[in-house]
Amino acid sequence: MATTAKQKIKASNGNSIDSSLDFNSGWSYSPAPESTDHIEIKDQYELFINGKFVKPAKGKYFPTINPANEKRLSMVAEATKEDVDKAVKAARNAYNNVWSKMPARERGKYIYRIARIMQERAREFAVIETLDGGKTIREARDVDVPLAAAHFFYYAGWADKLEYAFPGKSPHPLGVAGQIIPWNFPLLMAAWKIAPALACGNTVVLKSAETTPLTSLKLAEVIQEAGLPDGVVNIITGAGATGAEIVNHPDINKVAFTGSTAVGKIIQNAIAGTDKKATLELGGKAANIVLDDAPLDQAVEGIINGIYFNQGHVCCAGSRLFIQEDVADIVVRKLKDRMESLIVGDPMDKNTDIGAINSKEQLGVINKYIKIGKGEGAEFYQSSCSLPNGKGFWCKPTLFLNVSQSHRIAQEEIFGPVLAVQTFRTVEEVIEKANNTPYGLSAGVWTDKGAKIFNMTNKLRAGVIWANTYNKFDPASPFGGYKESGFGREGGLHGLAAYLHV
Ligand code: NAI
Ligand code: MG
Repeated sequence: MATTAKQKIKASNGNSIDSSLDFNSGWSYSPAPESTDHIEIKDQYELFINGKFVKPAKGKYFPTINPANEKRLSMVAEATKEDVDKAVKAARNAYNNVWSKMPARERGKYIYRIARIMQERAREFAVIETLDGGKTIREARDVDVPLAAAHFFYYAGWADKLEYAFPGKSPHPLGVAGQIIPWNFPLLMAAWKIAPALACGNTVVLKSAETTPLTSLKLAEVIQEAGLPDGVVNIITGAGATGAEIVNHPDINKVAFTGSTAVGKIIQNAIAGTDKKATLELGGKAANIVLDDAPLDQAVEGIINGIYFNQGHVCCAGSRLFIQEDVADIVVRKLKDRMESLIVGDPMDKNTDIGAINSKEQLGVINKYIKIGKGEGAEFYQSSCSLPNGKGFWCKPTLFLNVSQSHRIAQEEIFGPVLAVQTFRTVEEVIEKANNTPYGLSAGVWTDKGAKIFNMTNKLRAGVIWANTYNKFDPASPFGGYKESGFGREGGLHGLAAYLHV
């Protein structure tokens, strides 16, 4: 019976979608792959400097692959010191001679234009994001791309209203911003960084992450199409060494970084003693807290969304779950039932809930932590789903029960679909446990009582706290952390302040 279902689906499908999902349950969705007909990925990409795509000085390129099948998508230029210097010079020139002199409302028009073109090309962006990074097409389509466009729209509106944002002050731009972004939300992170920088009158050199360069290069095409003056936005590619060249370039006024705490610390050291400003968005180990009066089914959806969304490649992922003791059994049972229904597989399939892990390295990190969790004596549970055969990087949705505070899986960022579950009796106890972490990016609270929400959100040391929801984002809402989660805020008015002298 199981085999028949599998064969039928293969026959009606006929294409290369991996239908090695387990159909043992007897019933399953038919494959619903998004088409790739409408996208163009070049064999090779150059650096976007001073409004043109130019070859890298050293002539070196590196591959970017699709983590769902390990096939090479394209070769991408590796920017070295010379290229970074060229990009910073272009940005400085554009800043001095064009962008800082342009009336603010004209700047706003360009930013709107980028947002509009991005919306028009939304499908293309979503598909490329999924192919290059492994996230599900559903998320790329419904979260990443619309939110990226929303950030350009939002900040376009602020460009000519900065005096109203900071009444009584005379805000002026910082100059050239060096921006370094990670692989978990490639296009969205580019939008978070570029849109407020431009609205405030800065120019930009942005480097995308080495495993996910393609949507930022598409964005460079959109920027070209929008007619943005040459050099206002420069988009370069490369790995950590290229990022370090940006950070250390003497003519950068601001470094905006999102990524690991380890690299955040390196950057902080590198700019100490200079007058470069910095915003650092680093790791997290968020507590998602379920009180016994919470709407439990809704909470279970929030837990699932909080940790399995985007394969857990989310700095604000609800990776520590705290359940009040008297509802712990029922919540864990509901959670396991819901995990069982999650589909892990081809990210291009619209039914897939959990796509591919972004890279072999990251899968290695996740597997290392799963091993550590087992070794620490926590109770291990994974859904019984099967993973696609053969190529690609995959991880089943994973739970650890009976975790204790001292366990490494409760303390360290895993950045994968792995949830550490603990229980608690009182609100005081859970606040203490939740705050007992080197991080402080985000948290979630599930309860029926508004008063409890206000009490807890006051006491939790986290930059973003969701109540009866999780992983909700809006361009108007500031985002950022405490402690080792970094400093500075992105989004909203706070996000403007990070790109201005006020
Ligand atoms: P990473 O911090 O090395 O990479 C992020 C970006 O920084 C990339 O563009 C990279 O090329 C660049 N970079 C690397 N070294 C640099 C340097 N010395 N100077 C300037 N730029 C540099 O993160 P990685 O290695 O990809 O992931 C390692 C861990 O970091 C993950 O397992 C996860 O725990 C965490 N992480 C957190 C993210 C977040 O959103 N907070 C995003 C990505 C990773
Ligand atoms: Mg890739």
